[in-house]
Amino acid sequence: MLYQPKKILVTGGAGFIGANFVHFWLKNHPNSRIVVLDALTYAGNRANLVAVESQENFRFIHGDIRDFDLVLSLLQEEEIDTIVHFAAESHVDRSIHGPDEFIDTNVIGTHVLLKAAKKVWLDNLQTPRPHRFHHVSTDEVYGTLRPEEPPFSESNQYAPNSPYAASKASSDHLVRAYHETYGLQVTTSNCSNNYGPYQFPEKLIPLVISNILDGRPLPIYGDGLQIRDWLYVDDHNRGIDLVIHQGKIGETYNIGGNNEWTNIEIVKLICRLLDEKFATNEEMKKRFPYAPQVSGSMAESLITHVTDRLGHDRRYAIDAGKITKELGYCPQESFETGIRKTLDWYLDNEGWWRAVMDGSYRKWVELNYSQNT
Ligand code: NAD
Ligand code: TYD
Repeated sequence: MLYQPKKILVTGGAGFIGANFVHFWLKNHPNSRIVVLDALTYAGNRANLVAVESQENFRFIHGDIRDFDLVLSLLQEEEIDTIVHFAAESHVDRSIHGPDEFIDTNVIGTHVLLKAAKKVWLDNLQTPRPHRFHHVSTDEVYGTLRPEEPPFSESNQYAPNSPYAASKASSDHLVRAYHETYGLQVTTSNCSNNYGPYQFPEKLIPLVISNILDGRPLPIYGDGLQIRDWLYVDDHNRGIDLVIHQGKIGETYNIGGNNEWTNIEIVKLICRLLDEKFATNEEMKKRFPYAPQVSGSMAESLITHVTDRLGHDRRYAIDAGKITKELGYCPQESFETGIRKTLDWYLDNEGWWRAVMDGSYRKWVELNYSQNT
């Protein structure tokens, strides 16, 4: 039977995937209401939601998922029936240098949401209110794959390697426990690496794009032969939409695009696509005077191998067979179309990435990476 959410609390809706989710959802389900709860950390940006800010069926709350009273009052006041939980600290490198925030937000924060949801939707009610708690998680909980191993399926054992992955694994277990113990109606999705608009330029793809345009080095960790399975962000959100409407309560679904690339291949692809753009568009040279193409060089000249990430997982890959077979999931973007869309978005939204990078991110990079590059 189809579940029909009416009033949705989206946590972390001002971040990369959350903001894309809000746009995706309101476009496809204009009759539902969305309330975003976001603490606006360095990764959250209210400007990501400007296109929906004035819609009557949208509300933004600046607040923390760890604030139990706030979450409880929002669930009650807005009569929320569905939580879609994106809010998290999400960058592996930051988790290596400072794990505490990851435990606080990803583990404690998720638990606060679960407690509040249980209180409003289940406690002291003879019949539970119709509800759903969808938890957005990652393939990184499964650890790393050897080259010959099959992609991660839902039955793979959890073996997280970074503090980020361990914090997400813990939150997945808490979500499961609230279902098994209290009957909270939960679903979880574990997705591979996303790319697309609004991704903070600390993650590989937007970092490479913005660094080429400003003529900065492209840091490749170690040999660059680590493999990730890339999915366009709207295809992730398409999968979440299916799981919310049709997923079985208590189940987890892996979402991925069957699209494995080594890091160095991805970086070289972006270099080539930007070289082509500079070769065919004189305006680009005026806009980005520090790009290597302006002085007759190629983007690849910026590639710089740096010290490898500690505990760096060698390979991630997702087996999306379950969501495909059971819910009819099918990504719409090929990597070719998705990466071109993404490149065009960053070129069209230079103001956005410059503004977000002017903040704490640059200072953090200087502090942690100046010795490597
Ligand atoms: P992001 O870092 O871009 O955004 C996270 C958002 O959460 C930000 O808006 C931030 O302000 C908000 N936030 C952080 N702490 C908060 C708190 N305590 N209270 C309220 N809001 C808070 O992350 P993203 O890449 O959009 O990832 C979203 C979710 O998807 C995360 O749970 C992540 O683990 C998961 N995920 C990400 C990827 C990926 O490739 N980016 C892949 C699979 C799963
Ligand atoms: P990232 O985008 O941080 O995602 P994740 O760590 O969640 O997979 O990194 C993707 C891959 O790119 C990962 O193997 C680390 C690597 N990487 C670099 O080589 N250089 C960089 O500057 C960054 C940010 C990542």
